[in-house]
Amino acid sequence: MCSQLNITVIVRPETSADYAAIGELTERAFRDRWYSSKTEHHIINALRRVGALSVSLVAEQNSKVVGHIAFSPAKSSDGSDGWFSLGPISVEPELQGKGIGELLVRTGLQIIQEQGAKGCILVGDIGYYKRFGFINVPELAPEAEFASYFHILRFNESTRPEKIEFHPVFHDTALINGN
Ligand SMILES: CC(C)(COP(=O)(O)OP(=O)(O)OC[C@H]1O[C@@H](n2cnc3c(N)ncnc32)[C@H](O)[C@@H]1OP(=O)(O)O)[C@@H](O)C(=O)NCCC(=O)NCCS
Repeated sequence: MCSQLNITVIVRPETSADYAAIGELTERAFRDRWYSSKTEHHIINALRRVGALSVSLVAEQNSKVVGHIAFSPAKSSDGSDGWFSLGPISVEPELQGKGIGELLVRTGLQIIQEQGAKGCILVGDIGYYKRFGFINVPELAPEAEFASYFHILRFNESTRPEKIEFHPVFHDTALINGN
């Protein structure tokens, strides 16, 4: 529950009734962002289609989807599993900056940790994600990503992964554009 600035939001797993709203919200949230590929909503659908949307949570306000976060399985090059990637994440533009994104991230990280995750990776702005414990580890970044935007959170500090790759869906343009 989030109750900053008179906003009451609940976070819950997605249902099939949310699919369209999640897509529309994601498209809206990323529309004006310079770093957006404009395919984020398609990536969510593609992950869901191949069964790789491990955790998909919506933030709901007055029965309306106002936030969404996706987690999918990631792979360490040492063959170990238990890694996840965070994203895409979106919050309704006029409700940004009120703690909804933080509530989604913290809830999602708690869920994957309870599922036994070793850690989580993402590509994004460290200015936002450092509050959750993510750190920039450029040497572990997949070749396809900008190393300075690649961040990792290890739930167990003694876990030292090799390179970690995002789910292949993120780079499968045919699958993404096939929506
Ligand atoms: C990123 C996003 C999900 C954050 O959700 P939110 O509900 O606005 O975030 P919160 O209210 O939890 O946190 C707000 C804080 O994050 C900061 N913040 C938001 N986006 C940021 C960014 N891209 N880089 C750095 N800081 C950012 C705000 O300045 C604010 O800082 P403060 O707490 O010091 O005041 C939301 O802004 C969004 O949907 N953006 C468009 C889509 C997007 O960029 N997704 C992430 C791609 S990596």
